[in-house]
This record gives sequence, C-alpha cells and structure tokens, in this order.
Amino acid sequence: MRLTVVLLLMLTTGCSGGFRAAVNDIAPSNEKPGEVKNEIPDYTAEQLKQALRSASQLLVNRVPATEDLREIDLNGIEGYKTVIQSYMQSTRFRNAMRDYHLDYFGTFPPTDDTRDPTINYNEPANLATHIIVNDLDYREIVLADYCVNDNLVTGPCDTFQGNQGVAPQFAAGAMTTRAFLNKWNSAYNFKRVAKAFSAFACSEYPDPLDVGMDVSEISNVDKGSTNDFDATTGSPVCYSCHRSMNARAVTFLNFARDGFFFQFQPNGEYPNSVPVEERVVTDLNDVVAYPDMLLNTGTVDNPVVPMPRYKGKEIPSVRAYAELLTESSQFKECLVRRFSNFMLGRPNLDPLLNGLKPVLETANGFNVKEVILDISTRPEFVLRD
Ligand code: HEC
Repeated sequence: MRLTVVLLLMLTTGCSGGFRAAVNDIAPSNEKPGEVKNEIPDYTAEQLKQALRSASQLLVNRVPATEDLREIDLNGIEGYKTVIQSYMQSTRFRNAMRDYHLDYFGTFPPTDDTRDPTINYNEPANLATHIIVNDLDYREIVLADYCVNDNLVTGPCDTFQGNQGVAPQFAAGAMTTRAFLNKWNSAYNFKRVAKAFSAFACSEYPDPLDVGMDVSEISNVDKGSTNDFDATTGSPVCYSCHRSMNARAVTFLNFARDGFFFQFQPNGEYPNSVPVEERVVTDLNDVVAYPDMLLNTGTVDNPVVPMPRYKGKEIPSVRAYAELLTESSQFKECLVRRFSNFMLGRPNLDPLLNGLKPVLETANGFNVKEVILDISTRPEFVLRD
C-alpha cells in the first residue's frame, strides 16, 4: 500500500517550499510484490519527459521547468513522481482543480431571472478543491456538513441558515450547497437527483444496482395533477428509471427551490405548520408537485410518504443516501474514471480503460492526489500519443 505516501503528503501539505527534500524517502520500498508498482514498465527518460509535458499542462497549466526535466535525468521515474508531487502542492494545481470542478458540476450562475445574488455558485467546486489540496478523503464531497468559500475557508452552509444544528443530519456536501440545489432544481426534484447520480456515480438512469421502489409504491393518478407514474397508464420503460429516481427525489423534499432547508418527515405527515403552498417539491414555475406524486401513499392534503429506499436500505435523508452511495463501487469507480479521463483529455464519463483498473486499489484511501500520481505513472498515460 501507499501509506507512506499519504502520510508524507499530509505532513508536507502545510509547507510551501520544503517538499522536495523529503521526497527521496517516499520510494515505496515496502510495497508487496505483485502490487501496483510491478506493473509499471521501465520508461526511457524521453518518454517520461514527454509525459511530464502533458502532466504539467493539465496539473499546473504551464510547461515543465528545465530543472523539472533534469529531475528525470537524475532520478528516472522517482524524479518524475517527485516533480508531479511538487506540482500538486502548488497554487496552480489548486486553480486547475477548481476550474475542472466548476465545469464538472456545471453550477455556473443561471443567466435567467432565477439568479439569486445570495447564492455562491462556486461552492461545490470550492469544496472539491478544499478536499483535494488538503489531502482529505474525497467522500467528503457528499458527506461534508460545512461549506467552503472562494478563499477555500470552511464555514457553515447558507442552506441551513438559522438551523445549523441539523446540518450533521441533513447536509450532503456539494449536493446540499445552495448552488447545487438551486441550479439543478426542476419538477419533482428529478434534475437534482439526475445530476447527483451522474456527478458521483458517473451514470445516467436507470441505476443498474438499485431496483428502487416497487411499482405500486410509485404515485398513481388519484393523487393529483399527474398520472405520469400511474401503474395502469405508465409504462415499464418509465419505471425502469423512475422507480429509483422517485425514491431519491423524496430525500430532496427537505430543500426548497432556492436551496433552503426545511423540516420534512419522510415517514410521517407533513407538519401542519407547513402551509400547503410550501409543500411543493418543485421547481418549475408552472408545476406544483407534491410528495405523494413521487411515492404512492396519502393524499394531497394528507401526504403520508413511505420511507424511500436505496438498494433496499432506508434513506430518511439525502445524507443517508450519500453515505450509502460512497460505500458503493460506483462512487470509487467514478472517481478513478473521472481523473483518468481528466489526465487523458477524454470526455468526463468515458469508460475506465482496462489498463487503469489497478488504480481502483489506490483509490481505497480516497486521496485524489494519490490517484492522479498513480495514473500519471501508468503506460496508458506515459506512453499515449
Ligand atoms: C432513461 C431514464 C428515464 C426514463 C426511461 C424515463 N424518465 Fe422521466 N425523467 C428522467 C430524468 C433523468 C428526468 C429529469 C430530467 C431533467 O429535467 O433533467 C426525468 C423527468 C421526468 C419528469 C419531470 C419532467 C419535468 O418537467 O421536469 C416526468 C413527469 C417524467 N420524467 C415522466 C416520465 C414518464 C411518464 C416516462 C415514461 C414514458 C419516463 N419519465 C421515462 C429519466 C427517465
């Protein structure tokens, strides 16, 4: 395992210039035979220099310095790794990660009149950057109960204004930033659900690993203005996606259109104190969607919503969903897939190349810099055209 690397990275995070000196100690001499290291061929200095030119473009947006290239002449692949590690300690790397995630989450300020000046649309990307540059566990991206501002300083999330005490129970990292909630709102919360799934599981619906709710548990025509999910008029095709989408959509009922939290009990009735017009799930101006339209129980005036489930387990909150999601192979695979595609300049959701599958082991610690370092030593990266 690469524990030594993790520890050293953590120890050196705070220092700006002193990173190089410690790096010779990083050589993973205690790696077990047959592990990752043995699969790396001997590269020529020229191949490594070519790879470094690509890596530096991606990681620090500049060409390698002469001394960076000399490091390869002196120390071969260890020198190459030293330079890449030093890149990942820099402000330029921080900026590259932020730009990448701004694009990945797509939470740019909306151009229409729904734009709310109190929302910081950078928040999801700030959180991701904070996690990566500080060598935190990447699962924080959906588990953090704090937000990160443009200076990468952590603080409470606006989402839970006036009720920060509930954040540990209901916050789900990037998914419950106001930026994400407001940007991806739509009727029935489906946009939020779909965006979260594509961002963190790298997949579109249907979810092959989750059957979701039974068809009879999805809402029917008696329940309101829509028969979209009715068991008699709906089609199996619709259910293939919506049986798991609708359950996850219920967990977003705690968040109003503009991204503020409000209390909602999935397994009970809406509190009487919540007026009917606030019981909307919704988002689109012309659609008023109620919880009983997502899952089939109760009535409009007395909406009793069953406990949504993900892979057979109850998810009383979006955080509970996030916790299960981070335990799934989809989440880790998505992480490796995305950063592989980032390094190779491929589209975000392209499949993971077979030759890069061993990187999934490196990702067990969910340290993104380690994952990037591993990818950058693989033939798929070093020897590509
Ligand atoms: C391949 C997966 C998939 C299938 C099949 C599917 N849906 Fe959807 N549906 C989605 C996703 C994803 C969204 C969210 C779309 C968005 O707004 O980004 C959605 C949104 C919706 C919405 C909300 C529309 C809105 O205005 O926001 C309704 C209603 C709906 N689907 C009904 C249906 C019906 C009825 C069927 C069958 C005829 C169906 N869906 C089939 C994935 C699917």
